[in-house]
Amino acid sequence: MFDSYGRKINYLRISVTDLCNLRCKYCMPEKGIDKMWHKEILTLEEIEAITESFVELGVDKVRITGGEPLVRKNILKLIDGIGKIGGVNDLAMTTNGILLKDYAKDLKNAGLNRLNISLDTLNEEKYSQITKVGKLKDVLQGIEAAKKSGLTPIKLNVVLIKDFNENEIEDFINLTKYEDIEIRFIELMPIGTLKHWSSNKYISNDTVLEKMPELIEIESADISSPARYYKLPNAKGKVGLINPISCKFCENCNRIRLTADGKLKSCLHSNAEVDLKKLLREGKDIKTVITDTIKSKPKEHELENGNYINREMTAIGG
Ligand code: 5AD
Ligand code: SF4
Repeated sequence: MFDSYGRKINYLRISVTDLCNLRCKYCMPEKGIDKMWHKEILTLEEIEAITESFVELGVDKVRITGGEPLVRKNILKLIDGIGKIGGVNDLAMTTNGILLKDYAKDLKNAGLNRLNISLDTLNEEKYSQITKVGKLKDVLQGIEAAKKSGLTPIKLNVVLIKDFNENEIEDFINLTKYEDIEIRFIELMPIGTLKHWSSNKYISNDTVLEKMPELIEIESADISSPARYYKLPNAKGKVGLINPISCKFCENCNRIRLTADGKLKSCLHSNAEVDLKKLLREGKDIKTVITDTIKSKPKEHELENGNYINREMTAIGG
């Protein structure tokens, strides 16, 4: 599938729940989120059916996100189902890692290939502070379990937050010295209710290069990746910088998103949504709508001008 700017769209990100077992300050509003009604959420069968349509149209890469995907009931069954769709060459998940120690092995057996784990600090107290309810120990055990199960190479997503984790940039990068791990620094994006909090806490990813001038830029194997890659000399792992704010990567964007309530979003930063669930439940053909939505994918996002999106991050999945 190609959009109207000639970009090949082959990567589907599926949010399987808007619920989460953490309350990250930049993501979950203080009062919590309005819980979606059960009937609003796509069933596992519906998710599989939609994924199949996408695969028939050329998608070969799928990522499962949330909220926190591991809190979705029967998540293993879903992974197994999607893994069995011929044509899905890469099946990955983004998780906060809290439940991973119990799930890693089964996820691997069900057909998951890779994991991104969100971890914004390596300090126990700060972890509890930013996630409000999380314990760092659980994530660290989860990472170990993932490695043991062969869900590798592990990618750690670190959202850079002013006055919170700038002083840990070096510690994170040092993890790449002896291990084939990827540390991805993500610029904080103004999204949903917390857009103002996030705007105030934003720091540019240039900070990473200022703190670690020894990083050497390397070529990325995948041009559609939003990350620019770097390496410490002789390091086993690498460092990725994802700069949605300071530098756009829209030109090579290959993705489309499905929300937990069955809406199709052709761009993370646009409020435009198409209700696939409704069409599916009415027994209508969804493929034409998918193709049309992809054709309407915006050229690029314009976060600088205050064009923030309203939907919470928990309901999109990053
Ligand atoms: N800006 C940047 N990254 C965010 N994430 C969640 N909310 C934001 C935001 N406002 C990250 C999570 C996770 C990934 C799915 O997106 O930390 O790593
Ligand atoms: Fe949960 Fe991820 Fe949001 Fe944190 S950032 S509250 S882990 S969905």
